Amino acid sequence: MTPILMVDLQSQYKQLQLEIDASIQKVLDEAHFIKGNQVGELEQKLADYIGIEHCITCANGTDALQLVWMALDLPVNSEVIVPDFCYIAAAETIVSRGLKPVFVDVDTDYFNIDVSKIEENITENTRAIVVVHLFGQCCNMTPIIKIAQKYNLFIIEDAAQSLGACYTFANDDVRMACNMSHIATTSFFPSKNLGCYGDGGAIFTNDFELAQKVRSLANHGQNKKYYYQYIGINSRLDTLQAAILLAKLPYLDDFNSKRIYFASLYSEKLKHISAIELPKILPSSTCIFHQYTIKVGHLKRDSLQLFLKTKNIPSMIYYPLSTQKQVAYQKYRTTNANLITEDLSTEVLSLPMHPNLTLEQIDYICGQISIFFSNF
Ligand SMILES: Cc1ncc(COP(=O)(O)O)c(C=O)c1O
Repeated sequence: MTPILMVDLQSQYKQLQLEIDASIQKVLDEAHFIKGNQVGELEQKLADYIGIEHCITCANGTDALQLVWMALDLPVNSEVIVPDFCYIAAAETIVSRGLKPVFVDVDTDYFNIDVSKIEENITENTRAIVVVHLFGQCCNMTPIIKIAQKYNLFIIEDAAQSLGACYTFANDDVRMACNMSHIATTSFFPSKNLGCYGDGGAIFTNDFELAQKVRSLANHGQNKKYYYQYIGINSRLDTLQAAILLAKLPYLDDFNSKRIYFASLYSEKLKHISAIELPKILPSSTCIFHQYTIKVGHLKRDSLQLFLKTKNIPSMIYYPLSTQKQVAYQKYRTTNANLITEDLSTEVLSLPMHPNLTLEQIDYICGQISIFFSNF
């Protein structure tokens, strides 16, 4: 059996080597390393894939969020609703733009923001809700959109972990993650479902003016060369990264299907273990399993992780501490504890998940997990 990795980028490269090498070689031949044709081509293809008007690429997924806040230009100290259980980038960019994060608990089944707890956190200063589509599935957008409309709030989607997931609205309108809000972001970090070979990110919107502003802000705030309309930043996707993504984009759906298949195998082979809770999928969303995350109760999570390590099975804890409990975020801590987030931090364990897993590897991983629990 080949060694088990959390994410296997080497096998994926070998599989796509001809296309990726040719795409890179084209950039080397053309030598337009910044804003080469491949960047615009990728933006158009990504916009078409999502079914949205505008895509603007940038240097990484955190910059994408930063650019959103710069473009929206909300008044200082505006409150932004954000899930407490998620990657740090959303909270970090909110705070760094002088806004105030309001940390809301998540749903214990789906790991995404608990819609029933949003309204109680809205005040007269609330201006936006960030929905983070965590681990590969969409937040419950129908009620979130209703709340946002009622209180006149912006919705920002962070789809760094869910590019390719879709959500079905009551009228059978199916929308992809990144196309259910005012403005959305994603990341092309190498381990993402669509990853480049370095850093990369993108912003999506149907709003022409917002798109123009984001594009300008990401390029020093220029509207034409050496004329600055805004105070911007330098956040561009390298042409080489765009070329790599152009080679990989046609495979995204296939790779996501493989993740879904491997997730179904995990669930089938682990369902007899009562000490484990398997991932659940919101009926109105698909899940493209950026992570396959189980819940292990009764304080056995850490010992399971150690046991798996001795069997050469990697695993990860996403995320070990709620954002509001992080040292850097004490100033923004809410008075109420986010109890589900706190429980999840002690229970979640993400197992190896990527499109190049093998049946033998899944059998071995599930077999070892069964052995661990048979000792109790
Ligand atoms: C949910 C989420 N948002 C934002 C980001 C930030 O993306 P990047 O690492 O490209 O800055 C990540 C990356 O890990 C993420 O998982």
